[in-house]
Amino acid sequence: MTAAQFGRTLVHWYESNPRALAWKGIRDPYLIWISEIILQQTRVEQGTPYYEKFTSKFPTISDLAKASEAEVLKIWEGLGYYSRARNLHATARYIVEHCNGILPGSYDQLLKLKGIGPYTAAAISSFAFDQPHPAIDGNVSRFIARLAGVTDPLESSTFRKKISDFLNLAIQYEKPSDFNQALINFGAMVCKPGKPLCESCPFQENCQAFQSSMQISIPLKSKRIARKMRFFHFFHFEVKGHLFIEKRTDKDIWHNLYTLPWVETNTDSPFSSFPEMLFDKKYAELVKPSTHSIAPTVTLKQILTHQLVTGHFYKIACHEVQNQINQPFHLVDSKNLSNFAFPKIIRTYFAESGIIPD
Ligand code: ADE
Repeated sequence: MTAAQFGRTLVHWYESNPRALAWKGIRDPYLIWISEIILQQTRVEQGTPYYEKFTSKFPTISDLAKASEAEVLKIWEGLGYYSRARNLHATARYIVEHCNGILPGSYDQLLKLKGIGPYTAAAISSFAFDQPHPAIDGNVSRFIARLAGVTDPLESSTFRKKISDFLNLAIQYEKPSDFNQALINFGAMVCKPGKPLCESCPFQENCQAFQSSMQISIPLKSKRIARKMRFFHFFHFEVKGHLFIEKRTDKDIWHNLYTLPWVETNTDSPFSSFPEMLFDKKYAELVKPSTHSIAPTVTLKQILTHQLVTGHFYKIACHEVQNQINQPFHLVDSKNLSNFAFPKIIRTYFAESGIIPD
């Protein structure tokens, strides 16, 4: 099958299998940018409400630039990968200050912006400006690896080169915006990871993986990533319907999000009494706990890309609280928790303990 035949078959499939997408046909590079950053970490079904919320709150790049980081993180809450939201915001400000509020139209210029990598630069430059750059994400790589029988390990440089050489040629024959949307849809809808729909696939006869019954084993997986184990202890100091929260200011996971006051240990050893570390962090001055012996009330886990977080939650009733509370701590009415952005593990705790609705 030639590159031209591939492109024609793909776009023909795309035209005959319409898919309702909130950003369909949109040419505004700002809106495309937002949709692509959101969709890098979620599927269309989960990403669409975030796209709608984000673009109605910040309809233009200058609205985004004017917003505070806390407002942006709040809209992003629950999506994870918060550095993407921070980069979006920082780049919006940069574009407004240095580029008259206009996103550049060329792939190379887009690539220079913080938070815009090859995939996003290709998506924006093709969808908004019809430039011929293939948008290669995980779904697309899998599809082409199967079709062309690429058996190099996933994400090796030879794997990436084979996929991009194939697509850089094929995209020349079609309208780039249609070609890329067709590729993305096909990878998500037909050439799926576990259960590809080979019976209805228009490439069946040409698919090297199908012809050798290798569709499940291609692409060859690279080594599993090792995740660092982290053990957090979160203290839910409850004072008459209020609780303490703490802003995370370290350059670490959840930067600028809020959690409950916390300490971290190197091993998974829950506490039975208040640890010294907690007093180092000055909570002792904030509250008068009603008890000295403690035990986790709930334990939750959260998987991040490179880390596995265990969170032990200790609920502790308190008699009274100091009047003067300083950053990074806030004493908030539990009814007002929705004003702050929390990581998933904390929101799950609030939901499971009935503090906020799920
Ligand atoms: N995932 C990433 N980009 C997408 C797009 N433009 N349409 C559908 N799913 C996507």
